[in-house]
Amino acid sequence: MPQTMIVGRRALLAGVCFALFAGAPLVAAPAKPLAATMNDAAVTARASSLVAQMTAEEKAAQLTQYFYMQPAPPVNKASLQALETTGLGSLLFVTDPVEINRLQRIAVERSRLKIPVLFGFDVIHGFRTIFPVPIGMAASWDPQIVEQAQAVAAAEARAVGVHWAFAPNLDIARDPRWGRIVEGAGEDPYLGSVMAASQVRGFQGPYLGAPGRIIAGPKHFAGYGASLGGRDYAEVNLSESELWNVYLPPFKAAVDAGAGNIMAAYMAVNGVPAAANTELLTKILRKDLGFKGFVVSDSGSVVKLQTQGLATSPEDAASRAVKAGLDLEMTPPLGVPAMNSLPAALKAGRIPEATVDEAVRRVLQAKIRMGLFEQPYVDPVKAEAVLNDPSHRRLARVAAERSAVLLRNEGGLLPLDRKKIKSIALIGPMADSEIDTLGPWVFDQNKPSAVTLLAALKAKFGSSVRIDYSEGVRLPEPLNPPPGPSKPKRSAAPLDEAGEIRRAAELARNADVAVVVIGEAWNMISEGGSRSSFELPGAQQALLDAVTAGGKPVVVVLMSARPLDLKETRAGAILDVWYPGSEGGAAVANLLFGEATPGGKLPFTWIRSAAQAPNYYAQLISNHPERAEKGYWNEPTSPTYPFGYGLSYTTFEYSNLKIEKPAFRRGEPVGVSVDLRNTGDRAGDEVAQLYIHQRSGTASRPARALKGFQRVALRPGETRKIRFTLKPDDLRYWSSETKGWVQDEAVFDVWAGGDSRAQLATTFAVTAQ
Ligand code: NOJ
Repeated sequence: MPQTMIVGRRALLAGVCFALFAGAPLVAAPAKPLAATMNDAAVTARASSLVAQMTAEEKAAQLTQYFYMQPAPPVNKASLQALETTGLGSLLFVTDPVEINRLQRIAVERSRLKIPVLFGFDVIHGFRTIFPVPIGMAASWDPQIVEQAQAVAAAEARAVGVHWAFAPNLDIARDPRWGRIVEGAGEDPYLGSVMAASQVRGFQGPYLGAPGRIIAGPKHFAGYGASLGGRDYAEVNLSESELWNVYLPPFKAAVDAGAGNIMAAYMAVNGVPAAANTELLTKILRKDLGFKGFVVSDSGSVVKLQTQGLATSPEDAASRAVKAGLDLEMTPPLGVPAMNSLPAALKAGRIPEATVDEAVRRVLQAKIRMGLFEQPYVDPVKAEAVLNDPSHRRLARVAAERSAVLLRNEGGLLPLDRKKIKSIALIGPMADSEIDTLGPWVFDQNKPSAVTLLAALKAKFGSSVRIDYSEGVRLPEPLNPPPGPSKPKRSAAPLDEAGEIRRAAELARNADVAVVVIGEAWNMISEGGSRSSFELPGAQQALLDAVTAGGKPVVVVLMSARPLDLKETRAGAILDVWYPGSEGGAAVANLLFGEATPGGKLPFTWIRSAAQAPNYYAQLISNHPERAEKGYWNEPTSPTYPFGYGLSYTTFEYSNLKIEKPAFRRGEPVGVSVDLRNTGDRAGDEVAQLYIHQRSGTASRPARALKGFQRVALRPGETRKIRFTLKPDDLRYWSSETKGWVQDEAVFDVWAGGDSRAQLATTFAVTAQ
């Protein structure tokens, strides 16, 4: 579990002194590390020769990862001791380059076999430069910027000596009550797979061990997003069909893209905790998906096999996890690793030595591939330069602009006209909140910073526009704050909310426009951040209602990562900016004033209320399709906004949807084209989306399923022919009838348009081979 740790000045000094006196060769990594030129056999041979020299204790230590925190809790002592005696597989949460060099030196110079340590960290949406949260990046529907952002995150992390990201999070989230929806790409397996592959490419670059890149660790294998009732850590029960057709595709895409690591999930999947789930870790991951890297547990989940009612002792837990296919144990922050008892299990013959050796080999192979044996150290001075590279902030701003989704824009309220707006009432608890602009999974120790919207508007307009700011209301602290960075709490100064709401409404009445920045605080989402209600937390709804009552134009800027219920607010425009990151405020200011045009689309269905969850777009057609919208007698089942939805400052029109011929043989690719025209008078981006439905087959297929998309920029009046290819893989699916992949002969409906409710349709047929 992450906890922030600021490297103390004393530790820093000690590290510097140590480096100086030890005469550390702090040279840059070679352009192409030796490991990159080694073939698989050579890497395996090198790992095997090390394994052959290891004692049982040294093997167990290579399968152990300790949290390393400062100031040092007791666990640090154990990890330090391991470093210099047995060596150690990995440490997590150290991000100071001087400290990393110091710890690495202990392993490399003092331990018997001099095996370097892998340093891992939660590099989720940036390291020092923070990009929009992953759900926001997915909302850009722009795989290229997603790849570039993770490449920047990798460069910053690698510069300080971190070798491996516990990311991307590939959990499909069809129940937005679940807080970790913020970390993934939303509800759709196709979008999730595209985002998975681009993130792996961004982290790892052209090959594992490429300079300036890090190992990608897709997580949490598998099905975590389907936790019961959207409650974090709760059990998951998935049919084979859901597992294969919905939850596994992003992992397959990540494995195909070469991901070097996978993290096993916490919870039980179909009754067996993921960390000891042989079906998942060996049968599916290694045999079916062909994964060749190493598997890490989630924090403490090997030890917790006892808590979860599976294992009888740490020894039983460790041996069952390794036998199931797990390689490295992430210990709980202050806990004792279950792997400590692996030597006893080996001695008693309760686990075959070959199984343990294989796990150790996989960890060592990662270290070899990353070039750690040749260059275990980093240069802290160069690291600082990488962390402050101004191009990183620029990319973060563009990413935030591209991720925003315009949900409402009545009467073309946005963009605001710079020439006409002389005063803005900027209202809301998130309008000047750095921690909320950054979002979850951001760590003080890496010195991130964010431009808030208030700061950005002041910087943009100076004294030429009057900006009246009111916090309005205070965001409540969640009842069960998620584990995470110990960021400073919100101001403890008392706020007379009723009075401040009146003041905010007054400011709005006296301004040309009111911009209200509201949503869910950074710590109401993410791990442990599930909610059973989508209402605005605290008194934000009262604030919004008071501001809209004044009759002036109101723009809502939402910071959130799940559908929120704004109670049919009268605000004229709603712009969802997620948690937009370091340059969030600057990006939002550009969007509000039309220097950037929103082009993002929702990566999940914006359902009406939490009580309807899950209610995703790609459901099967029931036997009463005419009742699909009438699932409840008290409210429609149709969403507030459908999956794939998002407006622009311009308008688009789709026409001429064509399939290259009426029928295709099984296995043949299907060419589809559609004309997209910008019918407005501004340039803008549209995400053209392609959906299909298979009318009959071995199993029932979703009413609609996304099978292609392209984000395109069009000038006013410009028309572009968009071409899609449906590959055989896009038409196949996993059937529980045949226990395997099928591609049926069938008629397919096809729709193209700007969201999952697209109306422009045609059909094609797939016939026998
Ligand atoms: C627990 C989280 O589930 C996982 O995603 C994260 O990588 C680890 N803790 C380490 O912080």
